[in-house]
Amino acid sequence: KRLVVLVSGSGTNLQALLDAIAGQGAERYGAEVVAVGADRGGIAGLRRAEGAGIPSFVCRVKDHPDRAAWDRALTEAVAAYEPDLVVSAGFMKILGKEFLARFGGRVVNTHPALLPSFPGAHGVRDALAYGVKVTGCTVHLVDDGVDTGPIIAQGVVEVVEEDSVEGEAALHERIKDVERTLLVEVVGRLARDGHRIEGRKVLIP
Ligand code: GRF
Repeated sequence: KRLVVLVSGSGTNLQALLDAIAGQGAERYGAEVVAVGADRGGIAGLRRAEGAGIPSFVCRVKDHPDRAAWDRALTEAVAAYEPDLVVSAGFMKILGKEFLARFGGRVVNTHPALLPSFPGAHGVRDALAYGVKVTGCTVHLVDDGVDTGPIIAQGVVEVVEEDSVEGEAALHERIKDVERTLLVEVVGRLARDGHRIEGRKVLIP
């Protein structure tokens, strides 16, 4: 299966996928990353693609007259690689109507909180500020809401005394350790076994 991975930052989830595919071989894993897309330039995620010899592209909102034009451009840029699955791994833009019309049901997102708690761009910080005792990460299919699509898998991470809103990065790193493993496992299963959606359930045979 062909994967296009969308990133906005360090790309460690992308790297986990690349390492799993390199380690197991694309055949056994069931997928290969055919392209990496970003909403901004100069990020480690793009350098990771380059290091792996994978084509990449940047599609910035500010390069387009409006959001709908950006949505169309991103859809076309991804479609050019004919993906079977799109993986949003730390991609910090909401995917638009045209994108979801084209790839809906085949876009996987990973979020660093236990949805439906703490959706949005600050899930780790919001969980800490709330004072939760456990948080974690969620791998889900993208629907037309923000972090509201059907959940495929979740992983739990304990919040400890030392965790604080200021020290959010430390907790986020512990979450990312779980998240990367979960994402690699889920993407591999979807690629090898396929899936179908029944209401809020994602069924993987
Ligand atoms: C991940 O925790 C993702 O869930 C969140 O931002 C982080 C991206 O990390 N949206 P990376 O770019 O994959 O290292």
